[in-house]
Amino acid sequence: MIIVYYLSILLPLLVSSSFDEDLIIERRPHHVDWEDLFMEYNRYSAPNRVKQEINVTIEVISIRNDKILFEMNQDWRDERLRFVGVARVPVPSHILPWYPDTYIRNGWDVVIERQSTELNYDGTFQLKQKYQAAVDMDESTKDLSLVISSYNNYGTDRVHYNLVSTVINVPSHSHLVSKQVARKSDGIHFDDIHITIQSNPINNIISGNSTF
Ligand SMILES: *[C@@H]1O[C@H](CO)[C@@H](O)[C@H](O)[C@H]1NC(C)=O
Repeated sequence: MIIVYYLSILLPLLVSSSFDEDLIIERRPHHVDWEDLFMEYNRYSAPNRVKQEINVTIEVISIRNDKILFEMNQDWRDERLRFVGVARVPVPSHILPWYPDTYIRNGWDVVIERQSTELNYDGTFQLKQKYQAAVDMDESTKDLSLVISSYNNYGTDRVHYNLVSTVINVPSHSHLVSKQVARKSDGIHFDDIHITIQSNPINNIISGNSTF
């Protein structure tokens, strides 16, 4: 009875798979041997010990008074962690590669709400984070400023940020400008990015009128 039962389940499967190629499920090799990849890896050292380049993209999601919600992506290449296989994999939480020690230098009550890290086969990391932070606001223009910086050039002499793309589309603020600002503290060089999120002029007029 049991054998007949199994046969009646298996037979249709065997028959259908030999007739209909589309039904065969091919699982892609979604596997990276993390232990192997990280053998002899030194996470206290940046991929480039002299000047580590980080590409930064920022998307401002929302602004309320002096508070900003934004997403920041940081991309960097770690040649030590190239692998063969799938294009891009999520990095498991127990795996600890070198990370840039980026922070919001002028941020109050900074919260990183969500975070994910992915590694591409060519050794490119993408760290994606959602932040909320209160920042400095110019009382007259209502412009906000955001300073992105390395805390202590962790694992390298210098962390250098390239702001490669910015997106902002909120009603009160729809434009931002950025500049690189070199800072020296205790003989250490820092390459900060200063971002000014400009308040829409129309917004100023409306808020100015509303006080009457
Ligand atoms: C950083 O951006 C530059 C210019 O857009 C690009 O050529 C480079 O491949 C990027 N590096 C990484 C690690 O994404």
